[in-house]
Amino acid sequence: MSGCCGPAPGNTDPTRYSAVFTSRFSRSIARRYEKKGLRPVEQRIVDFLAGTGIEGARVLEIGGGAGEIQLELLRRGAGSTENLELSDAYETDAARLLADAGLTGRAERRLGIDLAEAPDAVAPADVVVLHRVVCCYPDFEKLLGAAAQHARRALVFSYPPPNWFNRAGFAAINTLMRLLGRTYRGYTHDPAAMMAVVRRHGLEPAYEHRGFDFSISGSVRPA
Ligand SMILES: C[S@@+](CC[C@H](N)C(=O)[O-])C[C@H]1O[C@@H](n2cnc3c(N)ncnc32)[C@H](O)[C@@H]1O
Repeated sequence: MSGCCGPAPGNTDPTRYSAVFTSRFSRSIARRYEKKGLRPVEQRIVDFLAGTGIEGARVLEIGGGAGEIQLELLRRGAGSTENLELSDAYETDAARLLADAGLTGRAERRLGIDLAEAPDAVAPADVVVLHRVVCCYPDFEKLLGAAAQHARRALVFSYPPPNWFNRAGFAAINTLMRLLGRTYRGYTHDPAAMMAVVRRHGLEPAYEHRGFDFSISGSVRPA
């Protein structure tokens, strides 16, 4: 395990995410989305899920930030979404984006629930999404395992491949975090080890996108 973002193993600092994923971070993401729509990696995630059939689906997104993937999935026919976040910085932007799209009633947003630690606090969903989140979490086995267990039909996650660029970038970010006294750390987890967790929970690989900064892995549960 090495460097996107997250606390050091065993870290229980309650501000570990909100100190880094601030309202400024949220605003920049929401404004970019309002002006330009989804980024290519997010569009690929939405397209993969839409291809698996999301009409009426219940979507669970872990660490969904301002919720732009959920908005697009709702527009493409998903029935409802649930977002779990450990930073409270996104709620104002998320509420505005939902209201502007007329989708407020179909989206639930829950703060402070870590699925890896409290799997029973969250109901299963048809599809589960983690975009730029496993790299924020030290124990990928626990988080991805819980995510896979909650996925009735499909699971998709993005991650930074452990190439020299990402390793160097995350090492630099982690050094900066240490110097600033922040507890957040980033990780470039081993892709094969992450896929092994997903397979162990009965899902089969169905989509793979290899990017330089972020790759995507999509899996489905065999009928
Ligand atoms: C890099 S940000 C990405 C946010 C959003 N997915 C995006 O791409 O704009 C990572 C987010 O994951 C959240 N996070 C990390 N671990 C989490 C967990 N176990 N449950 C819920 N949220 C989590 C953090 O609070 C943070 O907002």
